[in-house]
Amino acid sequence: MSNRPIDSNRVRIFDTTLRDGEQSPGASMNTAEKLEVAALLAELGVDIIEAGFPISSEGDFEAVKAIAERIEGPTIAGLARAVPADIDRCWEAVKHNPRPRIHTFIATSQIHLEKKLRKSPEEVIQFAVEAVKRARGYCEDVEFSTEDAARTSPDYICEIVERTIEAGATTINIPDTVGYSNPWEYGRLIEYVFEKVPNVHDAIISVHCHNDMGLAVANSLAAVRAGARQVECTINGIGERAGNASLEEIVMNLATRKDFFGYETGIRTEKIYRASRLVSNITGLVVQPNKAIVGQNAFAHEAGIHQDGMIKDKSTYEIMTPESVGWRGTSMVMGKHSGRHAFVQRLKELGFILKEEQVQLAFHDFKDLADRKKDVFDEDLEAICRRVQEETEETDVEMYKLVNLETSSSMTENPKAHVTIKKGSETLEGSGEGDGPVDAACKAIKEITGTPSRLVDFRIAAITGGTDAQGSVSLTVEENDIRAVGRFSGPDIIAASAQAYIQALNSLESKKASRARGESEVSSRQP
Ligand code: KIV
Ligand code: ZN
Repeated sequence: MSNRPIDSNRVRIFDTTLRDGEQSPGASMNTAEKLEVAALLAELGVDIIEAGFPISSEGDFEAVKAIAERIEGPTIAGLARAVPADIDRCWEAVKHNPRPRIHTFIATSQIHLEKKLRKSPEEVIQFAVEAVKRARGYCEDVEFSTEDAARTSPDYICEIVERTIEAGATTINIPDTVGYSNPWEYGRLIEYVFEKVPNVHDAIISVHCHNDMGLAVANSLAAVRAGARQVECTINGIGERAGNASLEEIVMNLATRKDFFGYETGIRTEKIYRASRLVSNITGLVVQPNKAIVGQNAFAHEAGIHQDGMIKDKSTYEIMTPESVGWRGTSMVMGKHSGRHAFVQRLKELGFILKEEQVQLAFHDFKDLADRKKDVFDEDLEAICRRVQEETEETDVEMYKLVNLETSSSMTENPKAHVTIKKGSETLEGSGEGDGPVDAACKAIKEITGTPSRLVDFRIAAITGGTDAQGSVSLTVEENDIRAVGRFSGPDIIAASAQAYIQALNSLESKKASRARGESEVSSRQP
């Protein structure tokens, strides 16, 4: 049993980017993408990777299993409701790792007990205890979470915590599931657990805060001061609704104000920026420019007075260095005269290892972009690499391919689009009219493919500054209860939107095919 004493100054970082983070609308990742993120999280030095919720879908199960098989270093956890089928399935996925963890949970607030679970407090304790015992039958490392703890009676939390530690839980997580609490109240709750639960030192106390009121990081830090030694967080703070506590903010608070907090983490902070870029690129969730630690403006000094201070001595306005988080700025890296060797070298520095065929395509796209665009930034290269990786992904269903797109728009007429698509040897053509050229192109594609799916989410953002910036499009389509995401970036935002739409339709076909082969998918992740 892991019974690290509470006065240990080591705070464990439990990263849930691949589980709670992936629950952000439009953020779903495929197994290859999850593996890429997991590998970087291991390099970053996180203690625990929550790789997914194995029973929620075949895809989630496969991803957790692949991560457990291939990623060594951190503990690999899977999420499971407090029911036998979830725990068994979770174990099947995580057992392949030398450090497996089953993370089981049940809601404890009166609202959830009455309205969602329809169970009495004692019944819920029974479920929790049985779940922990079952999980301990499989492995030594078992985490139990009291979902919606911040809205639960503190005495009931203490009771269920005591009973689940007795049943064998080695980590107890006390989440603010709905981002309801504040640092004073939440810190006090954790203190209360330490005061009232006699066996509390037999487990690590963990916190998991959502950001609905913008307090996830502050609440987590207050909990650490009260004795919590595991913090659950995500890269860029992605997650359900307003997201989870952001890993980079927690870690840099603890590192920059070690004089105040006095705690250590195992994070190699200089890898933070790369992790942020990777997660943003893969999920299509853009980091706001003024985001702490990893936003484009996080280390930019605009005011003359500040610039003057910075020139005289950086410590006047800089509380941490950009290098300490691996921030490299938006630098012009290459031009149209750059050679292939330098190009491949830069891709390696950015963390992309491409196959020869992919390098050829990426280099071709880079030259093409350098001809059209004055400055080529790292962000542009990242977008090219992602696009090539997606285009060359192997798949088992016949895919749509965009062959041509023509659009026209003026101030006096409705925008129109004419689209040509190939599906195998078949060529499909059609036109559409819409509110804007993107809408017209999407309507034409819907018309030619005859897809019954609905476009439920559409986002577009400029990758860098300037009117010649590439646009990054991320969209979600839905058919019955199946959702699929498409992402594409390029200098022509109408073409990028059409490509993203086609990619989403291809992904939808692929999901439908695996459903038809009998690979089940649970539509909702919530228990
Ligand atoms: O927010 C939450 O309560 C969760 C639990 C499953 C830990 O994500
Ligand atoms: Zn959560």
